[in-house]
Amino acid sequence: MSDKRILLIVGGGIAAYKCLDLVRRLRERCFAVRVVMTAGAQEFVTPLSFGAISGDRVFTDLFNLDDEREIGHIRLSRDCELIVVAPATADLMAKMAHGHADDLATAVLLATNKPVLIAPAMNPRMWLNPATKRNAAQLTADGIASIGPNSGEMAERGEAGPGRMAEPLEIAARIEQMLGAAAASPLSAKPDGSVALRDKSLAGRHVLVTAGPTHEPIDPVRYIANRSSGKQGFAIAAAAAKLGARVTLVSGPVGLADPPGVHVVRVEAAAEMLAQCEAALPADVGIFAAAVADWRVAEASEEKIKKGKGSAPTLSLVENPDILKTVARRGAKRPGLVVGFAAETENVLEHARSKRKSKGCDWIIANDVSPETGIMGGDRNTVHVITADGVESWPDMDKQAVAEKLVARIAEHVALGQADV
Ligand code: CTP
Repeated sequence: MSDKRILLIVGGGIAAYKCLDLVRRLRERCFAVRVVMTAGAQEFVTPLSFGAISGDRVFTDLFNLDDEREIGHIRLSRDCELIVVAPATADLMAKMAHGHADDLATAVLLATNKPVLIAPAMNPRMWLNPATKRNAAQLTADGIASIGPNSGEMAERGEAGPGRMAEPLEIAARIEQMLGAAAASPLSAKPDGSVALRDKSLAGRHVLVTAGPTHEPIDPVRYIANRSSGKQGFAIAAAAAKLGARVTLVSGPVGLADPPGVHVVRVEAAAEMLAQCEAALPADVGIFAAAVADWRVAEASEEKIKKGKGSAPTLSLVENPDILKTVARRGAKRPGLVVGFAAETENVLEHARSKRKSKGCDWIIANDVSPETGIMGGDRNTVHVITADGVESWPDMDKQAVAEKLVARIAEHVALGQADV
């Protein structure tokens, strides 16, 4: 049990509501959380809500005589292990960078002798404004730690870019890392905001992963395929094994070595991939990263098709079974958490959202595989994680980092008992 106290200063941005979840996550990790709210923050969330979730009184006013007599802003600023500012608005960052102290939040920040972590959140243009950049650089130079912002959709309609506050789980992981607290979470944050795997929190779980393309035969020497390299699926399987899971990786033809500790089943065509997935069930978690060919040749020739017969052969195609959809509807054998991928070249989020529903999966990881992104076959990936709760856009990362962050998120979900496993 950690008995460390965190002072959370909630700034006046729409992301303030996410801080209710942050308090919950911190309390799950046995931190005591005391909350200070700016006047702006109180326009978004009431002190009553934070009081109920933190189980402590909430401080809002520098000039409240009772508060000052009882605890005082100087003690408030020192009676904790860490101060977290979330959301750190452009205004709050500017005040911090210039040493203002005209309200309780800024007075506490100026008076503290404790480490400070900020989680910036604002409109992308405000974040990219040279004034904010200067303030952010000043705060870094002053030794203030920072997490995020992430890129993604803004609360304002149609706006996207860097400015979303880091997710509560990411902030919680970073706080644990800063305080050296060994809690039950499988997450620990890396300096770039991605997370690292830490423990064996998937021990005893069976994770099924599909990866790579499929090859659909035309004749004994020719086939239909796609550009998938299998790298993302292999990295996911490796990350799950690192967390102690028993992993079955059903892979189409790829040039990758078996990841350590993973049971790899190599297949060629979609029908075989489905059969091997079914054979591997039951599983606690199913992650479907394969780029399965949508069609196969209705009747593949048993002999090599010869040319020079006057006209080119016509290939008649039939649709392949949908492996993800089939497993997601397997009733009692359905994995407790089913995660699909959505490879799109246009309207990425819209298509992915409808795929999540039509395929019956719990989460879908959407990525833009247009040729100019270089994702298909490349080493990097930019993904959006779509769950029933909404969309979370992750920054561009290498595929291993995406895999580790995803698997850590899955482990956390399983650990919290949210997956029906
Ligand atoms: N998938 C599958 N079996 C198929 C086709 C797709 O298991 N026959 C899975 C993929 O592994 C991925 C998800 O379904 O997790 C979505 O794949 P994607 O290629 O994006 O979509 P499709 O279903 O093929 O739809 P479309 O090609 O029309 O976008």
